[in-house]
Amino acid sequence: MKRIAVIPGDGIGPEVIREAVRVLRRLQESRIIEVELVDFDWGAEKFLKEGITVPPGGLEMLSEEFDAILAGAFGDPRIPSNKHAEDILLGMRRGLDLYINLRPVRLLNARFTPLQNRKTDDIDFVVFRENTEGAYCGAGGFLKKGTLDEIALQEEVNTRRGVERIIVAAFEYARANGRKRVTMADKSNVQRFGGDLWQRVFKEVSAGYGDIEANHQYVDAMAMFIVLDPAQYDVIVTNNLFGDILTDLGAAIQGGLGLAASGNIHPGKVSLFEPVHGSAPPLAGKGTANPIGSILTCAMMLEYLGYQTEGRMIEEAVRGAISADETTRDLGGTLSTEQVGAAIANRLTKE
Ligand code: NAD
Ligand code: IPM
Ligand code: MN
Repeated sequence: MKRIAVIPGDGIGPEVIREAVRVLRRLQESRIIEVELVDFDWGAEKFLKEGITVPPGGLEMLSEEFDAILAGAFGDPRIPSNKHAEDILLGMRRGLDLYINLRPVRLLNARFTPLQNRKTDDIDFVVFRENTEGAYCGAGGFLKKGTLDEIALQEEVNTRRGVERIIVAAFEYARANGRKRVTMADKSNVQRFGGDLWQRVFKEVSAGYGDIEANHQYVDAMAMFIVLDPAQYDVIVTNNLFGDILTDLGAAIQGGLGLAASGNIHPGKVSLFEPVHGSAPPLAGKGTANPIGSILTCAMMLEYLGYQTEGRMIEEAVRGAISADETTRDLGGTLSTEQVGAAIANRLTKE
């Protein structure tokens, strides 16, 4: 029995996670998987009412009592500081040491990409985003705040161990999954210190993987090539901020943020699975958000929990729904969030 903490969060989070849970429950009812789902109300509403983001001992509870966490999104226009998202989302990533943010970019259907003349095979890579340091370390401060002489410092942290473990993870993944190339993106032509460390570690680590081609691109050029020539990528490894930006671009070329899935992983520990998109305030409450990103996120989570076959069943059900045009508006369909969730869940129990 695997225990999964479910944290729907804000905006469209609860709507899309409801459909992801529908899919998990369908597999559970058919006795295909054995999981226990436990709901948590962490998010903007709780913060506004009670002033609580992560309750005391919350991270310890997750790491001791759960195998995985399924989250929706965190972000609410009523909380411009983003304090609750910082505590909950970045809090889990850092506090649970989830150093791999694994974000696949895969074109499921050629009609979804805004790029011209691309086949599904042309867009199929995975991004290994460092997930615990870089520009997300929260270090910095103000001097003379509110004056004309104000200075805002925003630091970036790159540790030898942090850089090495994400690069090793990318090469290990490449080897285990028949990928031929790992491309590292940085901005080492400007960021001389952090970039230098990434360059050195990448060279050292790649030397141990003679079977995998290692190459480097500056991140600005990579942003261009992801649009012009996405087929060259197999595995991309990069820092936290560049990974954040490149994976929204990756989401766009596979058909939009509504489709993109992610795992925040520390192998062997409780890990966090969430769609790449955020709370999308303009869509919240309308029943139009695409739940496929969250449903494919469940497939990744099941794979992580050792249910590989069941993860693939979900992917097949998603492909089936897409082929039958059972999609939301962002993919050119006419169905609601709930109808898409039901269409995918129903395919799981059909022969
Ligand atoms: P967003 O990802 O929420 O949405 C951007 C746009 O993408 C939406 O307006 C919509 O057009 C489209 N979109 C996103 N998800 C979709 C879906 N499931 N179906 C159809 N279309 C979808 O990004 P944003 O507007 O920049 O951020 C909104 C809030 O979410 C902010 O508070 C931000 O900080 C937060 N955020 C949270 C997470 C997270 O919790 N992991 C991720 C990104 C953004
Ligand atoms: C993401 C989001 C988060 C990030 C925000 C909400 C803190 O954009 O998961 O991609 O920047 O990592
Ligand atoms: Mn992002």
